[in-house]
Amino acid sequence: MKGPFEARKVSKHVYWVGSIDWGMRDFHGYTTKRGSTYNAYLVLGGKNILIDTVKSSFKDEMLARISSLINPHDIDYIISNHSEPDHTGCLAEVIELVEPEKVFASAMGVKALENIFHAGLEVTAVKNGESMKLGDLNFTFLETRMLHWPDSMFTYLAEDKLLFSQDAFGMHLATSQRFADELSDDILHDEGKKYYANILTPYSALVTSLLKKVSGLNIKIGIIAPAHGPIWRGDDVGKVLNWWSDWAAQNPTRKAVILYGSMWGCTGAMARAIEEGLVAEGASVKVMPVESCRRSDAATEVLDAGALVVGSPTLNNNMLPAVADFLTYLRGLKPKNLVGAVFGSYGWSGEAVGQLRDILEQMKVELLGEIKANYMPDAEALARCRALGVTIAARLPK
Ligand code: FEO
Repeated sequence: MKGPFEARKVSKHVYWVGSIDWGMRDFHGYTTKRGSTYNAYLVLGGKNILIDTVKSSFKDEMLARISSLINPHDIDYIISNHSEPDHTGCLAEVIELVEPEKVFASAMGVKALENIFHAGLEVTAVKNGESMKLGDLNFTFLETRMLHWPDSMFTYLAEDKLLFSQDAFGMHLATSQRFADELSDDILHDEGKKYYANILTPYSALVTSLLKKVSGLNIKIGIIAPAHGPIWRGDDVGKVLNWWSDWAAQNPTRKAVILYGSMWGCTGAMARAIEEGLVAEGASVKVMPVESCRRSDAATEVLDAGALVVGSPTLNNNMLPAVADFLTYLRGLKPKNLVGAVFGSYGWSGEAVGQLRDILEQMKVELLGEIKANYMPDAEALARCRALGVTIAARLPK
């Protein structure tokens, strides 16, 4: 009798044998409202080769999909492109079960796997650019250090013109469709951009040089098989490469993000006045009260914004904890090419605005203004806020 889980054919020699996590909603602080997939692949060509594994709690689903094609004990080799536990959580158990001839990873991957498992796993390091024939098929390994971990690498399968790209070109999207051409561009772009913004933004310069390197390689890429989300084939390969190139450039647009917290509506009133000034000058504005949005949505909006404007009242000599949460997250992502401003109301001490200024300066945001209002902003304070919006708009691209 057939089991419930089956492998899905990707190309002549490659099958998807991953798992679908419909319920995942948080990826260390990144809200994943559409869940995710952990993509493992089985390559059959003289030898049986498993590319990556899955999160530990999804091991049985992966093994069941493999079993729809071969006995998992017949896996000859495992290639680990990336050591993060969403792709290696069950690796040690799978190695113990399968007893493969060899496990391959980058040199940094060998170290990471030892430091994650402390199990004396025998893992063979492959070199950047090294090619290797496994069974009847030819594989080439390409290190992609810090995209997004030091161990990360791509594996290219020449016969199928297929690039196993681990996290790169992926997205957190649980879907029963395996290919991007079965999904709408709106969903692909939204979730792809969110994934880029929340995982890759700090490494954008490396992404740009990697994309140049990949296009300079003497290889044809007909399929990109990432470790999360749908597989790109045909025209979609160029599409996702272009999207990534755009996101990595972080070119500012005529858009401002106003991120703020408020206790009694005073800082909120300032935010709306700044918004009015921006809108009057033709800028688009995303107003994000921290109590009603997610930090990962803020990161996604900031990716293509030209301005980041942040407000907080002062609570016990500090900015609001929720605003600090968002800024800690955004500071780690190191967005670029932003102008900005800070604002907030206060009752008696008023330290928050200075704290916001310090963080935006650390983020290398070019500050264009700073406004404090005592208790509820009066007409004069609101007029200054509106004028600040006009000033910011003047610095945004037309
Ligand atoms: Fe999907 Fe970096 O792990």
